[in-house]
Amino acid sequence: MNRVPEETINSIREQTDIVQVVSQYLQLRKSGQNHFASCPFHDDKTPSFSVSEKKQIYYCFSCGRGGNVFGFLQEMEGLSFIEAVGKTAELADIELDQSIIDQAKQSRPAEDSSRGKLLKIYEKAEHFYHHVLMNTQAGEEAYHYLLERGMTKESIETFKIGFSPPQRESLKMYLENEELSDPELLKQSGLFSDRDDLAFYDRFTNRIVFPIKDGKGQTVAFSGRAFMPTDESHQPGHHTAKYMNSPETELFNKRRILFNYDKARAGIRREGEVLLFEGFMDVISAWQAGVKNGIASMGTSLTEEHVQTLDKVTDHLIIAYDGDKAGMEATKRAADFLAQETHFTVEVASFPENLDPDDYIQAKGNDAFKEFLSHGRDTLMSFLMKYHRVGINVKNESERLKYIEVILKEMSRVSSAVERELYLNQLEEEFDVSVDALKEQMTVYIQEQQKERHKQRRKEKEANPTREPVRISFHQNQPKQTAVMKAEQMLLNRLFTHDEVWIKLENMDKELSLTTEANQLLFLLYDEYYHSHDHPSIQSFIDYLPDDKLKSKLTEIMLINLSEDIATGEIEDYIRLINDRHPLEDRLKQKRDELKLAERSGDKEKQTSLAIEIINLSRQLNSK
Ligand code: GTP
Ligand code: MN
Repeated sequence: MNRVPEETINSIREQTDIVQVVSQYLQLRKSGQNHFASCPFHDDKTPSFSVSEKKQIYYCFSCGRGGNVFGFLQEMEGLSFIEAVGKTAELADIELDQSIIDQAKQSRPAEDSSRGKLLKIYEKAEHFYHHVLMNTQAGEEAYHYLLERGMTKESIETFKIGFSPPQRESLKMYLENEELSDPELLKQSGLFSDRDDLAFYDRFTNRIVFPIKDGKGQTVAFSGRAFMPTDESHQPGHHTAKYMNSPETELFNKRRILFNYDKARAGIRREGEVLLFEGFMDVISAWQAGVKNGIASMGTSLTEEHVQTLDKVTDHLIIAYDGDKAGMEATKRAADFLAQETHFTVEVASFPENLDPDDYIQAKGNDAFKEFLSHGRDTLMSFLMKYHRVGINVKNESERLKYIEVILKEMSRVSSAVERELYLNQLEEEFDVSVDALKEQMTVYIQEQQKERHKQRRKEKEANPTREPVRISFHQNQPKQTAVMKAEQMLLNRLFTHDEVWIKLENMDKELSLTTEANQLLFLLYDEYYHSHDHPSIQSFIDYLPDDKLKSKLTEIMLINLSEDIATGEIEDYIRLINDRHPLEDRLKQKRDELKLAERSGDKEKQTSLAIEIINLSRQLNSK
């Protein structure tokens, strides 16, 4: 694939004013040097979103998202980087080379490309099915079925649910009428029967049809639910699948698609977490109950691609699968998979009495459902403890030991040191074994685990020697900065804007190591960037960064107001502060993490003692 040259990208950026672009989306108010608005990327009550005209960046002081004009459009419109470059040029009225326009449009298909035509077909088909359900006699029974299941007219409309009528050629006729009749394209769409002798018979006949949308909200497939008219028209023994999806196409890939991701994205951001359901009826019912951050995979287990998509918007995932045995097994599989993604916080909502979330809502109501989601969830470890406990007789010594062993193994894999402590105490209490003995055993597992991970990573590196994805999390309410963190940021700011600082650092005998992971990464990546680019600039460094969270961090650093010129001794002061940092900071951070856990488990006594420790540590730190 050929790429848009970096000079072109730089030139588009340089000809654009971010304030003008953002103004087309938000009501900006000028205050001092900067412009402000309510942040569009999270539930913001005060105007925490700022745009700097001078620095050509945006940054939200509350959720910490930030970047340049391309990043803003990517985030705002769900665009790829290159699409955002194209859109910027369009908004700023910059004339572009045709080849660049073509590239920017490649993933946003033009009307006349085959992708574009397919999208048109799906759009029309969705309209047709929905119309049949809402307005025709053929759809009446299906419509009542949905209402009986508790679905409202409003959600039928929101999700554009439809019905495919029994006349098997009606979709084809409808599309023909809309001048979509190219047989090759119709075949490609997957909406018709695969069998040649039944060519252009609607695949979903007599099914309730759910549009499946991609992240941009474009319909790219359908899933049809069998629904039995009262006369039981199918013969006994003849098996019909409950759900049937359209086949995979260029646009529809089950490994990638998440049902409802397009609509849920805003809710996921607002809540800071995503709910993963098994079925899309669950997603719809939850939505109807006011829970707007739910998604589902398409009847498949969670994939790396799904996780990558979610990773862009949250680092907190709640598995809310069905409450039956199969659901529990699926939860375990998802949990094992996610355990490799250590940066995700995973919780589990296991519904009682074999109910799936949709059943639960129908049986107990919206409020009970919301209550269960907020207070009835388990940490991943407590779910695993429940999971392994099934069918085990703890009165039997060998079974009990086996159970403890399994739990220790799980713990060594999935939990933080602080969390481990908590569960070890729990095991001690329950089974009357000493924590020390448990710890000793677990240390062995942890070492095995580390070795395994090491091996795995080496293998991955060999297979794929490019840079590993970098993962840092956003925090809704950012923690207070310590003096060291501030010094680090000011140093980085200077480093990014003044070449001579770079030279100063290179001449230092001691290697600089920064406390915050993001700061350290920015430092290393800038080094890499600086030495591989002839005309380094901070704006093109933003584009160079591999991760949205790093882009945000960089923007935050760029927004620090420092005088134009560097004062004598300024850089040396930062470095001294950073190198002299005290282990107190690390202790404080650890205690804060512990407190979070104690709060979650409701251990009041521990909370109090931790709070006292934290206060003392902060006092010591501040008096330095
Ligand atoms: P309802 O029975 O309508 O409430 O659906 P559900 O959401 O409870 O479905 P279920 O828990 O049985 O299945 C969960 C998900 O698996 C569904 O949303 C589908 O994506 C998928 N699925 C279920 N049954 C089938 C099937 O027969 N074929 C295919 N391809 N997918 C299925
Ligand atoms: Mn169900």
